[in-house]
Amino acid sequence: MALPEGLDPPRGKWVAVGHFLLLCLSALAQPGGPAVPCPALCQCFGNLTVFCSDEGLEDIPEGVPASATQLFFVGAPLFSLQSGAFANRTGSRRLAKLAFLGSPLESLGRAAFEGLPELRELEISSSQLSALSGEAFLGLANLSTLAVKFSPIKSLETELFSNTPRLEALHLQGNEVGSLPQDVFRPLSSLKTLTLSQNHLAELLAEVFGPLSALRVLKLSDNRLAGLSAGLFGPLGELRELFLDGNALAELPPGTFAPLSALTRLHLQHNALERLPAAVFSAQRNLTFLYLDGNRLAELPDGLFQGTPHLAELSLAGNRLQSIPEGLFGNLGSLAFLGLSHNRLAHLPAGVFQGLSALARLQLSHNNLTALLRGVFANLTTLEALDLSHNQLATLSEGVFEGNVILANVALKGNPWTCDCHLAPLKDWLQDTDPLINARALCRSPAHLQGLSLPAVQKEQLVCRRGPAPSRCRAEPGVEETSAEPSARPPCTYQDPAGAIHLACDRDACRQLSLSLPPGESLQEAGQSFSKGWILDSGCGAVKVQVAVSIEPLPGGEAVAAPSEAP
Ligand SMILES: *[C@@H]1O[C@H](CO)[C@@H](O)[C@H](O)[C@H]1NC(C)=O
Ligand SMILES: *[C@@H]1O[C@H](CO)[C@@H](O)[C@H](O)[C@H]1NC(C)=O
Ligand SMILES: *[C@@H]1O[C@H](CO)[C@@H](O)[C@H](O)[C@H]1NC(C)=O
Ligand SMILES: *[C@@H]1O[C@H](CO)[C@@H](O)[C@H](O)[C@H]1NC(C)=O
Ligand SMILES: *[C@@H]1O[C@H](CO)[C@@H](O)[C@H](O)[C@H]1NC(C)=O
Ligand SMILES: *[C@@H]1O[C@H](CO)[C@@H](O)[C@H](O)[C@H]1NC(C)=O
Repeated sequence: MALPEGLDPPRGKWVAVGHFLLLCLSALAQPGGPAVPCPALCQCFGNLTVFCSDEGLEDIPEGVPASATQLFFVGAPLFSLQSGAFANRTGSRRLAKLAFLGSPLESLGRAAFEGLPELRELEISSSQLSALSGEAFLGLANLSTLAVKFSPIKSLETELFSNTPRLEALHLQGNEVGSLPQDVFRPLSSLKTLTLSQNHLAELLAEVFGPLSALRVLKLSDNRLAGLSAGLFGPLGELRELFLDGNALAELPPGTFAPLSALTRLHLQHNALERLPAAVFSAQRNLTFLYLDGNRLAELPDGLFQGTPHLAELSLAGNRLQSIPEGLFGNLGSLAFLGLSHNRLAHLPAGVFQGLSALARLQLSHNNLTALLRGVFANLTTLEALDLSHNQLATLSEGVFEGNVILANVALKGNPWTCDCHLAPLKDWLQDTDPLINARALCRSPAHLQGLSLPAVQKEQLVCRRGPAPSRCRAEPGVEETSAEPSARPPCTYQDPAGAIHLACDRDACRQLSLSLPPGESLQEAGQSFSKGWILDSGCGAVKVQVAVSIEPLPGGEAVAAPSEAP
């Protein structure tokens, strides 16, 4: 969060959001209605909402309508709120929500908000407050939401919340808080949501969350936590969501999350985790979302997900995984998303995805996979999208997607594809998927197809040349003739030096022709044609080939390329 002065984006953003809201509300205002008295330098919307954003507004205005329930200051140049700033203002007694967005407040007087018996929600965002005192909140015994965000607050005093015991939501994100006093949350036994993200917290005292027995959501994202003390989460048996992402956690003691039996969402991404204890998630039976991406995990222990059968989303992307234990996901029959991109996987065991009977999206991009076993996706009958891009795959075994009956998208780009007969079965299937996804799936070989997009290659071009040619027919120069059985002879391949045309012949006939049109000769419409003659060389001798290609309309309407040859 070290930003040059004057360039702090969150603050600027809040002001902008406020103005935007103001514009929206302006659009809703009804100028035709009865005139509502409104304070100078403010705008009133109906008789309920008052917006004050004028640059001339330097104090809390007089004359807020008696019926107003919401009062917003957006970017108003208020530098301090005096003691009792609202106490004797007519019209403020019904306020339920009060917000200061982007005002340069530097201090709050004692009981600054006294005299607002209905106030439930108080927000101060993007201010210049560097400290908060509990005295400022005197008289707010009914407050349920307090937000003091994106301000340079460095510390919280122990008694800060003693006057606001009914808080249910406390948002303190984007400040500069470095530590939490032991008893600071003691009065907050009703608190359900606590946000401490984007502060400077480096460690947390074991007992600090002790009083928060009703807490449902705890956000500690983007702090500097390097470890979690044992017992830290002890009293949080009601916690549903825990955000610890963006910290510096290198290790999790085995019992860290043991008390959190109601947890459904756990964010641990972007930490420095190198290993996980096998039982670390064993108490989270209701866990649904688990994010472990962007850590340094090189391996995962067997049984890691044994206790979390209801996971729906699991991300392990951006780690250092070289392999995955077979059966690791065997228990995850509800998992719909599995992210394994940006790891170092070179090999997947055949049964690695066994048990994932609800999987819809599987991401394996940016790994080091060179081959996929035929059955590796076999039982994934619910798979819809598979990302295999940026691996080292040259080919796919036939039938590798056979069991994936609703698979619609497979990303293949960034692999060194060998565009030969092994990919031919895939071709029909590729025809039915989104062509844009694989426009950049390019052939690395054979030479004459190199650089072509796989969807653009004709199925007829995906041919294999069988085995090494008998010596007499080798295209490679300098190979001695041997006396191989004539009947066993594989075909002889003729090709031109540029590799644009191949002709595969055996003893009886020439059986395969593949041709890539020279650049600028792509044929698209019926009636177009191309014709050229070549002298093709091979170890068997030379052959003259004349090829004419023309596009002819099919009876059904679609045009097809119709090659004809005359050797
Ligand atoms: C607020 O305005 C509505 C109509 O615009 C009116 O019916 C209602 O009585 C007003 N309330 C007060 C407290 O003025
Ligand atoms: C509010 O008004 C009362 C009596 O009208 C007065 O005693 C008190 O000092 C005033 N408070 C403030 C903060 O102005
Ligand atoms: C809290 O609310 C109750 C009832 O809504 C009200 O009687 C009481 O005065 C309020 N307390 C404060 C400190 O505003
Ligand atoms: C898990 O979820 C179920 C269904 O929502 C709920 O009945 C159960 O109490 C939850 N378990 C815990 C420990 O919260
Ligand atoms: C990928 O595999 C190759 C050889 O199989 C190896 O040399 C290379 O280091 C691997 N890359 C990564 C990122 O693991
Ligand atoms: C697919 O599921 C069947 C029955 O559930 C099982 O026998 C088979 O081993 C599984 N195959 C693979 C490759 O996971």
